[in-house]
Amino acid sequence: MANGVKYFIGNWKMFGIPSSNKILYRIERFFVNDKKHNKKYKIIIAPPFTLLYDFSKRFKNKKIQISSQNCYEKDNYGAFTGNVSPFMIKKLGIRYVIIGHSENRIIENNKIIQEKIKLALKNKLKIIFCIGENKKQKKQKKTFIVLKKQILSGLSKNYNLKNIIFAYEPVWSIGTGLTPSVKLLKKNVVFLKKFIKQKFRLNYNPKLIYGGSVDKKNAKDFETIKELDGFLIGGASKSSKNFIDIIKNFYK
Ligand code: 13P
Repeated sequence: MANGVKYFIGNWKMFGIPSSNKILYRIERFFVNDKKHNKKYKIIIAPPFTLLYDFSKRFKNKKIQISSQNCYEKDNYGAFTGNVSPFMIKKLGIRYVIIGHSENRIIENNKIIQEKIKLALKNKLKIIFCIGENKKQKKQKKTFIVLKKQILSGLSKNYNLKNIIFAYEPVWSIGTGLTPSVKLLKKNVVFLKKFIKQKFRLNYNPKLIYGGSVDKKNAKDFETIKELDGFLIGGASKSSKNFIDIIKNFYK
């Protein structure tokens, strides 16, 4: 089903200063030398806004892509103190933006997320669209209801979903060291792909990655889930060694 290219996406969250570019250089060096596998995967790193311009210039002709961690729900320019529009991100030479991360959903409702996605696509950004149930919803067995709602309220039927990478990130697994079992993750991944394919009448499989406490060990366990297209990695992406170890183990 998903034997296409895999994605290893690092979300730095509130981490990084200009000299942190050395982490990216190390990861890039590994990628270039990993001749045996490097045609099979892509690396994308999402640093904070403060580093986007510098990193996008440094890695312009390199193998690592840079992503924004968010964007504002208004386009172009405006009186929105402290915010950055999809237009401004695109103009930096950035190609990706993360939208709907659960850490932002605390203050962003589905309507806001819908607007962000619309404007990001308008500006020809590719989207890493995060969805996921929280602990309470999981306990109440509402996982699929929640995921369906997040997907349907974020997207319009006429979008080209080739510009969207779905990132399934159960909130209870982010930063906790807890992950779903291989069996449960496979079940959810298969459900989500089937649901998206049917609802949007796709004649291809949508891209779907997993995020939440990914490390070198569970990345290898999850490698058995052929439907999975990669990972969204938080904590472990702040260290080149941990990030590289995930890729190494995945292909071991
Ligand atoms: P952790 O890998 O630190 O659990 O974070 C996952 C995440 O939120 C990535 O977006």
